Amino acid sequence: MITFDKEANLFHLTNKSISLWIYINSESLLETVYFGKYCERPNLSSRVKDVDNCTTQYFDQKEGIEKTFKDNFSIKSSRFEIGVHNGGDNRPAPIIVQKNNGMYDTNFQYVSHKIYKGYPKYENGPHVFGMDGDTLEILLKDEFSDVYIKYNISISSTSDVIVKNVEFINKGKSKVNILRALSMSLDLDDCEYKIHHFYGNWGNERNESVNDVIVGEQIISSNYGRSSHEDNPFVFITSKNATYDEGEVIGFNLVYSGNFKYSFYSDYLKKLRVSLGINDFDFNWVLVSGANFVCPQSIISYSSKGIDSMSQNFHKFIRNNLISYKKISQYKPIIFNSWEGCMFDFNTESILQYVDASEKIGSELFVLDDGWFGKRKDVNSSLGDWFIFEEKIDLKKVEEYVHSKKMKFGLWFEPEMVSFNSDLFRTHKEYALGVYRKHPILHRSQLVLDFSSEEVVENIFSQICKVLDYIKVDYIKWDMNRDIKEHYSLFLGDEHQGEMLHRYVLGYYSLLEKILNKYPNIMIEGCASGGGRFDLGTLYYCPQIWASDMSQPSLRMINNFNTSLGYPLSTISTHINNSIETSYKEKGYLALFGTYGYEMNPLMLTEREISEINSLINVYKNDHLSLFEEGTLYHLVSPEQHNFMAMELVNADRTKFVVIVCKKQGIRLSEKLRLKGLNESSKYKSNIGVFAGKFLQNRTLDIKLESDNLEIGFYYFEMVK
Ligand code: DGJ
Repeated sequence: MITFDKEANLFHLTNKSISLWIYINSESLLETVYFGKYCERPNLSSRVKDVDNCTTQYFDQKEGIEKTFKDNFSIKSSRFEIGVHNGGDNRPAPIIVQKNNGMYDTNFQYVSHKIYKGYPKYENGPHVFGMDGDTLEILLKDEFSDVYIKYNISISSTSDVIVKNVEFINKGKSKVNILRALSMSLDLDDCEYKIHHFYGNWGNERNESVNDVIVGEQIISSNYGRSSHEDNPFVFITSKNATYDEGEVIGFNLVYSGNFKYSFYSDYLKKLRVSLGINDFDFNWVLVSGANFVCPQSIISYSSKGIDSMSQNFHKFIRNNLISYKKISQYKPIIFNSWEGCMFDFNTESILQYVDASEKIGSELFVLDDGWFGKRKDVNSSLGDWFIFEEKIDLKKVEEYVHSKKMKFGLWFEPEMVSFNSDLFRTHKEYALGVYRKHPILHRSQLVLDFSSEEVVENIFSQICKVLDYIKVDYIKWDMNRDIKEHYSLFLGDEHQGEMLHRYVLGYYSLLEKILNKYPNIMIEGCASGGGRFDLGTLYYCPQIWASDMSQPSLRMINNFNTSLGYPLSTISTHINNSIETSYKEKGYLALFGTYGYEMNPLMLTEREISEINSLINVYKNDHLSLFEEGTLYHLVSPEQHNFMAMELVNADRTKFVVIVCKKQGIRLSEKLRLKGLNESSKYKSNIGVFAGKFLQNRTLDIKLESDNLEIGFYYFEMVK
């Protein structure tokens, strides 16, 4: 619900659980009066904090005298929704527009507003949708130009989530340059917070870094051209003593797959400004007269009840309001992927054997990974040549065989890349980024295609269509195995090079849209050398993303635990592989806390291992939707701070729950776990006994994992009727 008190110039955005109060002050600037747990109308005088002694004086040019701003606000320290650039606020402004005369000063002031049901409507690009929200659209005008912005703030009535973004419209006669276009900025009254973000590299994504807000500016960002392995756009801040179920927590994310940037700024006044959006690194967008520019939506999840409530808000909102995949609430077939089993080393016969063997462990969707196209025998060739490698594989035969077994068929593509040893590169060198250099940098022997160009996107689209029109494909794994190291496009004019990285991301989205529009029954799974592009922009199109090339449980448990703090388990693609760290069954427990699937040489399995794997299939089939996909997830013990990890999933009516405990190698575990979210007055039976919900919530589940090896315990509870 959004209300506007015209007399007081005060907006209230609330869902009765959280509140955002915004005031239009006497200089037409938007001040944040309050953001947090639901609150009745705050006293406007509470905005002015004399302690910092920063109340602004100004010179009234007309009257020739010094005055104090009517509202007693301070440019330097008041809490603004969109801070000014220059003119007294030294905190980083979220928006900088350089005018045609070279001026950098930017000051957006209130003009008018609209309130409507739902979220802003966009025809293209990833965006939030649904009718459970209300939107406040505020029109603001730059004091120094005819550039306007629509500042959209939506509040969900079903999750404690706020969505913010900005749309630019140049109503002036001359062009301007947008030098910074962040999607949101949040000023907080103090800086007593810890920042949690998730860093890593290939095969080692999403380790948690936790640090205090410092006086100064902390930047968390990607300039890899994609959201990156190195840092993820999901970040949260916690009040100093917050835990999984207590304290104030604010989570942030961006519906975007390219370079992003967070700035956390605090000066001697010890207040915090958090801002987030497209990274301004090498960003310079020319906004010609009449044009507009839309910033990606940022999502803010608020909790006054600890980290899990922030993360549950995200889970619900992402599943209900962001993932556009139509069949999200239907049964998802169990995937078998060929990559870790045979890599490039296959032919028609060996793949048919894989199909048979995968069927024995319940595979319902057979995916042929890298190596079926061009002349691809290893990483050194053929990206960009999307035609079947006939001498290597009879793809039609494989597809028909898979379908004859009532299984679905999936294929791997890496659409954004080109091998220098490819027909595409030989005929269209200009399609590759970096060819203007004497020594273009290779990674995995490949270059990135210039997706800022429609011509390049169209070329790849028509090649992919030929394959998809020839064989029936139900699933695509969309890979991206290198980052963007060159920021110059041969297709864009001199003045527009600062647009290239964002235009690339738009090209990525446009190809996804073209494919999904033409083949609406195909499910696309995201991947970028594992988790190098695990973000909300990709999730809008792809309901799940391969989370990491590291499937060893000892490391994968950290990735799954941390990724699930910001993303639903249903999006975290996790497979059972041939790793020897632990048994197939125990690896299966971990895969159940993800999307569940296989990635192995199935011919290596013994009869005992096959029946071990098969014993899990019914758990997946019976409960994957209500429990693993839609259940409420509790993070009990973090593997970052302890030598084991524990999570719990409870279904909506609290009649079933599961607990996973994964302990590291070399320790013996004897712990009592306090469970959450249960029906206190009910009893639950499990493989380790019958327990009252009340007792389980008071730390009485005894866990004993006593081998020296890595060990995974899985406890399945059902309410006793
Ligand atoms: C990287 C992916 O993460 C793997 O799963 C696999 O698809 C390879 N690329 C194929 O080249």
